[in-house]
Amino acid sequence: MSVLVAPSILSADFGNLQRDIRMINESRADWFHVDVMDGVFVPNISFGFPVMNALKRYARKPLDVHLMIVEPDKYLAAFADAGASIISVHIEACTHLHRTVQTMRQLGVLAGVAINPHTPVSHLSEVIASLDLVVLMSVNPGFGGQRFIKNTYSKIDELKNLINQKGSSAKIEIDGGVDLKNARELIAAGADILVAGNTVFSSTAPEEVISLLKDTSSQPA
Ligand code: DX5
Ligand code: ZN
Repeated sequence: MSVLVAPSILSADFGNLQRDIRMINESRADWFHVDVMDGVFVPNISFGFPVMNALKRYARKPLDVHLMIVEPDKYLAAFADAGASIISVHIEACTHLHRTVQTMRQLGVLAGVAINPHTPVSHLSEVIASLDLVVLMSVNPGFGGQRFIKNTYSKIDELKNLINQKGSSAKIEIDGGVDLKNARELIAAGADILVAGNTVFSSTAPEEVISLLKDTSSQPA
């Protein structure tokens, strides 16, 4: 299976959101990555339901919602109603993660858990079998356009081992600082989904960048 590419609309031009949504619709991107920030869990506020509603109306691909918020349980049903196909909560924000994962499954969305750069992969061991997705943060969440943290490569390796050991079918999504230079190594290490914000939207040819990411293979150049 080729890598899935999920452009982050956090880096879109919100004055031209419909145009940027259309660009993703027409591109080879697989998912819309939707970064929701509450200014408490992370030191930044992004957007909430008004933008979700615009996405639901115009986006023609699954909405991959990354909740960087405290108490995500309160909002899971609302995000499912607002069109999310995939929801990821942060392990650091969940006191009863097992319950939260069960709720996501009951809502019929794909269940993801995101872990910050400081959080060991082993903390997922008791829930990994119930997950569809693990989001490995390769930057500290809160902002687009940050520098990729190289320790992510060894975490991918550990996560792959854990997934195999527990017979999980969870996919590995890498979020933060992904670019055309590190994509190949990330895929070779075991990444299934690449989120790309700045790399896509800072380009004058975003569709082409998405295409280049899609064509990145794990074979050596
Ligand atoms: C970081 C967000 C990321 C971010 C990715 O808090 O979760 O999804 O928007 O953006 P880039 O690709 O610019 O690092
Ligand atoms: Zn994200």
